[in-house]
Amino acid sequence: MIAEGTRWHRLQDARIVTLSEGALLKLKVGGRAMVIIRHQGRLHAMADHCPHQDRALSGGWVENGHVVCPWHRIHFDLATGKAKHGVCSNVEVFAMKEDERGPSVGIPYTTLRIFGWDLW
Ligand code: FES
Repeated sequence: MIAEGTRWHRLQDARIVTLSEGALLKLKVGGRAMVIIRHQGRLHAMADHCPHQDRALSGGWVENGHVVCPWHRIHFDLATGKAKHGVCSNVEVFAMKEDERGPSVGIPYTTLRIFGWDLW
């Protein structure tokens, strides 16, 4: 049976603790290039990939709850990844959770599940 789930990856980079409001931190998480952003005290995770012309978002900045791509300045909603005004595809965003051991990013996956075992 095809099954979907989320694998949680703990962020162990010490720079997370001191990440300032509105700053973008480029990280590899679970083999995926991401930017971690602190906005209004909460952490967000977004693919470090602008769908407009396949360039990195990590040189961008935060403006009114959106990450602004440094290349052509398309704005992407921090929470949903939605491109402002629908001018291009959306950016993939990832779930975040924090507990006493620190923040984690959730990466969705699809697998084949047999007798309760995920094959990958
Ligand atoms: S590459 Fe990001 S807006 Fe064009």
